[in-house]
Amino acid sequence: MEKKEMLYEGKAKKVYTTEDPDVLIVSYKDDATAFNGLKKGTIVGKGAINNRMTNFIFKKLEDKGVPTHLVEELNDRETAVKKVEIVPLEVIIRNYSAGSFAKKMGMEEGVKFKCPTLEFSYKNDELGDPFINSYYALALGLATQEEIDHITEYAFKVNEVLQEYFDGLNIDLIDFKIEFGRYHGKVILADEISPDTCRLWDKDTHEKLDKDRFRRDLGNVEDAYEEVFRRLGIQ
Ligand code: C5P
Repeated sequence: MEKKEMLYEGKAKKVYTTEDPDVLIVSYKDDATAFNGLKKGTIVGKGAINNRMTNFIFKKLEDKGVPTHLVEELNDRETAVKKVEIVPLEVIIRNYSAGSFAKKMGMEEGVKFKCPTLEFSYKNDELGDPFINSYYALALGLATQEEIDHITEYAFKVNEVLQEYFDGLNIDLIDFKIEFGRYHGKVILADEISPDTCRLWDKDTHEKLDKDRFRRDLGNVEDAYEEVFRRLGIQ
């Protein structure tokens, strides 16, 4: 499969058309941004890690009944994916307090919840991805009730599969963000699942193995991404 025209360049990826109108090629970059693009930098090797980790996880999720956009990994940084129309919602699942939740609720980070939470943000850079609920999403026509129901069901399933998997790697899955796309009338998991989009803490030391190292200038950013990749044991 060959790249044709560049369709879009985002903060962490480029997207190309292919000879197949139903298939795009995603190319992962080492560029990192945070705080809605205000902080910029590079995490050397991140593109390849995020590409390969996402594909590895998406295959596991497909096996557990969660449909994804994955078609085929082409090389370290590039993957062929189904061309979807992205549902403009960031879907966030949390198992422990951290980040914006901890700030909003005046809580310490790392408190385990009685049950996972799910929240939506409206994907809109100009507005800074504001927190919304499903009524807003319906009222604004961002998704249908049927889509929201599927998204919710899949998101909790992703959490169940990932929590169990990371548990075996001695990692606590604190929270994560996923996105969905419409493909031939159905919603499927799209975008990525990587240390850019998850909070991953070592179970024993509580060391952060994710993008918070970049966001908060904690140092050893590359080492953290490499450590997660190493524990996944991807060949
Ligand atoms: O910042 P906040 O606590 O709301 O982030 C929750 C989770 O969603 C974190 O794992 C973070 O990495 C992820 N996230 C993301 N992209 C965003 C916002 C949050 O991947 N634009």
